Amino acid sequence: MGILIQNGKLVFPDRIKKGDLYIDREKISKIEESMDPKDLPSGTEVVDASGLYIFPGFIDAHTHYGLGEGETGTADGFFEGSRAAAFGGITTFIDFADQISGMTLTESSVLRIKEAEDAVIDFSLHQGVYHIHRNLALELDDLKTSGIGAVKLFTTYKEYGCYLNPADWSVLFPLCRNRRILITIHAEDDDLIKHINRKYPGSILPPKMHALLRPAAAEKNAVIKAGESAALYDVPVYIVHLSSETALDAVRKMRGKGVRIFVETTPHYLFLTADKLEREDGARFIMTPPLRKKSDNEALIKALASGEIDVIATDHCSYTPERKEKIRDCRKIPAGIPGSEEMAALLYSSCAADGSIDLIRMGNLLSVNPARIFGLYPGKGSLEPGTDADIVLFSTKINSNFSSDSIHSKAGYTAYEGFPISGVPVMTILRGKIIIRDGKFLGNKGDGHFIKAGDSSVFPG
Ligand code: URP
Ligand code: ZN
Ligand code: ZN
Repeated sequence: MGILIQNGKLVFPDRIKKGDLYIDREKISKIEESMDPKDLPSGTEVVDASGLYIFPGFIDAHTHYGLGEGETGTADGFFEGSRAAAFGGITTFIDFADQISGMTLTESSVLRIKEAEDAVIDFSLHQGVYHIHRNLALELDDLKTSGIGAVKLFTTYKEYGCYLNPADWSVLFPLCRNRRILITIHAEDDDLIKHINRKYPGSILPPKMHALLRPAAAEKNAVIKAGESAALYDVPVYIVHLSSETALDAVRKMRGKGVRIFVETTPHYLFLTADKLEREDGARFIMTPPLRKKSDNEALIKALASGEIDVIATDHCSYTPERKEKIRDCRKIPAGIPGSEEMAALLYSSCAADGSIDLIRMGNLLSVNPARIFGLYPGKGSLEPGTDADIVLFSTKINSNFSSDSIHSKAGYTAYEGFPISGVPVMTILRGKIIIRDGKFLGNKGDGHFIKAGDSSVFPG
């Protein structure tokens, strides 16, 4: 059965246009100024979208659902995390596969795809590379063929075994360039962090110390290192969760020299500040990199408007307050906050409603750009006929506040408690199926498909 969405304001990458959109099974079939249901197959469901914006389904390009297991795992598995995301208008998420010792890169990602089988929306993966094997070239060939278009490197987390030795970058970067595999980087200078930490041996450091222990300078150093390598090996890089003005300035300098650096930031670096860490429940605001200053928020928001930031994603990594708050040393508190559900409503309410960005920019940051950069376009991130009917109906006539009581993450809290909401997704459609309507989840465990990534748009020609 088809769906006709009537009278909506369709948000394209370069314009907003009023019109009707018809979905035939899993695909967008046509867009016209006006369609009469009588001219469509009988049984077509008509959805009145008067006054609503119609976006291509949002993409959360940075999630950690189902990370770890049991006591030590995240509160949200793939089912819970992706369902919360669906409430937030997200129809595709991109999670991470750790590199598993003794396995090839493809074997590691296949394992992660299996773990994600309960997802209720579509998904893609970035593959972590923490050490390199002698047959890396073949592994990367295989990885790309199996539909993974991006690798993830860490310049920190030595203690967790994720840190990739910079000497190995000289091997990995050219191989990725030649295969059009996008290199994504968590940028924090581990040496500087370790150096600062040595000042506080054995002590118990409260959450408010967290920002000081992992300063913006550490992010800046690592961004410079990433940019220099991008220049040296003539390959684009993508910095995940950029948090600070100083690192943004480093990106600007590199770009000025012709280096291709793509940047993602997250809602928490746009709208939260490190003073949250001083609260009694400061532990729930621990994530890496840590929260920064108001001036950093402001610089990043300006950079959204100027087009210097390419993607907003959440880094959704959920732990319950009980789990986080019982640990007294901030270095041992499990890092990460939930956020997929809040992302679009928050961006609209805290940034688009006041005109800091327009709705076209919002659609590009949340859907078109991540789809292009991660090789999912035009299947995802587009309203063009023939593409997947992943669609969000978005109302801008809301007057409410974020509340932990109404959030769907199993973490049971929102980091944006009390923030005003003036716009929300009111209907989410995944490949032609309405999965969120009237505040109810109508999808099923396992409805989400693994989507094979093609070439990233960041590789020219
Ligand atoms: O605190 C965070 N961000 N946790 C998830 C891991 C990461 O670095 O993205
Ligand atoms: Zn990270
Ligand atoms: Zn992350």
